Amino acid sequence: MTNYLTNELEHLTIDGADAVSLAETYGTPLYVYDVSKIRQTMRAFKTLFEKENVPYVVSYASKAFATKAIYQVAQQEGIHADIVSGGELVTAIKAGFDTKHLSFNGNNKSFDELTLAVEKGVGTIIIDNFLELKLLSTIAQEHQIKQDILLRISPGISAHTHEFISTGQQDSKFGFDLLTGQAKEAFQIAKNDDNLNLRGLHAHIGSQIFDVTGFEKNAALLADTAQSWGWQPAVINVGGGFGIRYTADDKPLPESEYVAAIIRTLKGKAASYDWKMPEIWIEPGRSIVGPAGQTLYTIGSRKDIPDIRHYLAVDGGMGDNIRPALYQAQYEAVLANQPNAQTKEVVRVAGKYCESGDVLVWQQALPETQPGDILSVLATGAYGYAMASNYNRNPRPAVVFVENGKHQLVVARETYEHIMSLDKDYTL
Ligand code: LLP
Repeated sequence: MTNYLTNELEHLTIDGADAVSLAETYGTPLYVYDVSKIRQTMRAFKTLFEKENVPYVVSYASKAFATKAIYQVAQQEGIHADIVSGGELVTAIKAGFDTKHLSFNGNNKSFDELTLAVEKGVGTIIIDNFLELKLLSTIAQEHQIKQDILLRISPGISAHTHEFISTGQQDSKFGFDLLTGQAKEAFQIAKNDDNLNLRGLHAHIGSQIFDVTGFEKNAALLADTAQSWGWQPAVINVGGGFGIRYTADDKPLPESEYVAAIIRTLKGKAASYDWKMPEIWIEPGRSIVGPAGQTLYTIGSRKDIPDIRHYLAVDGGMGDNIRPALYQAQYEAVLANQPNAQTKEVVRVAGKYCESGDVLVWQQALPETQPGDILSVLATGAYGYAMASNYNRNPRPAVVFVENGKHQLVVARETYEHIMSLDKDYTL
């Protein structure tokens, strides 16, 4: 059994703050992030490359959790960020993030998004398709700049993860297909385009991956592909996807093993092809913010079906964490009032949304609970707030950052006024 960190009240603590009093102060549901943990992970990624003395860029995949506050932390820690929409770009800009340190991914970036990116000086645009090659060239020409780009390749590598979150296989909407020669054609176009500065290749094989083989294959494939085109790339970007622990069934490797495998592969390729060592770029999202976030809920009603199941309902659900409903994702939860108390029963933690699939934790052993107790669902920091919705017209929760016992609201709780603010009367 995990021994959770508690204070003198036996309450769960999050980076030194009392989880129950955070719930009282800010209300529930509440996303809480341990900022020390986020910084540690960001630093750990950097250190791994520095120890090996290879040029690198760690780019936080901000789709996992994109708020002003996280871009500010990333900037303080000297890492880059990857964005996938105009909305993320604007958030990063408002956070004061240096746009030179942004890369822009996505399979259907609009003309307006690309124009904004060029105007705001986004460092690298990761080109996904032929239309984008043309659009970006025109926009760069109009703005009289030469835009740094990478080409995104569909590597045809299938990572063993949920079908919806695996992106590298050949039948994928992302990137230039390698096997049919489209990637080479894109390379020739990009290389000969005076408005574009082609710096390297990108491929992302999927998410929540637990072994190194896919990353090794991906890195090798990108290097071999460039070599087969007679070209020495300045950048090889192998994407993100490092798995994290949600429950005891998840056995992720330490980050160091994934990164070491990538570095080893690319050092080997650079030596055998007699290249100057390319910059290695990685784009971790989940591994940076996932384990550092948790969601606090207030326990409400319950339903006991004898011999079948105990349902414990909380004041949030699929609107703040769609992952169990969408991917059958598993989580663990802990009673924040008394995390280390003896467990008494196994419950299913359900939300308050009008849908049977609205589950937060499929199976959880808990001590006896009372309405009003605070339950924390762990490791919700990635793709939780990021994929939150107003389903059933529920306002989205607030987000609080905690660091060494101090806490600060970084996203305010939505109100009914926010929800109503875009509605208009129908008067025809
Ligand atoms: N780079 C690219 C190009 C990506 O498409 C992704 C994730 C990442 C980096 C970051 O991957 P990570 O390190 O976070 O695994 N909503 C799903 C995850 C979708 C991931 C999409 N792409 C979920 O909740 O599991």
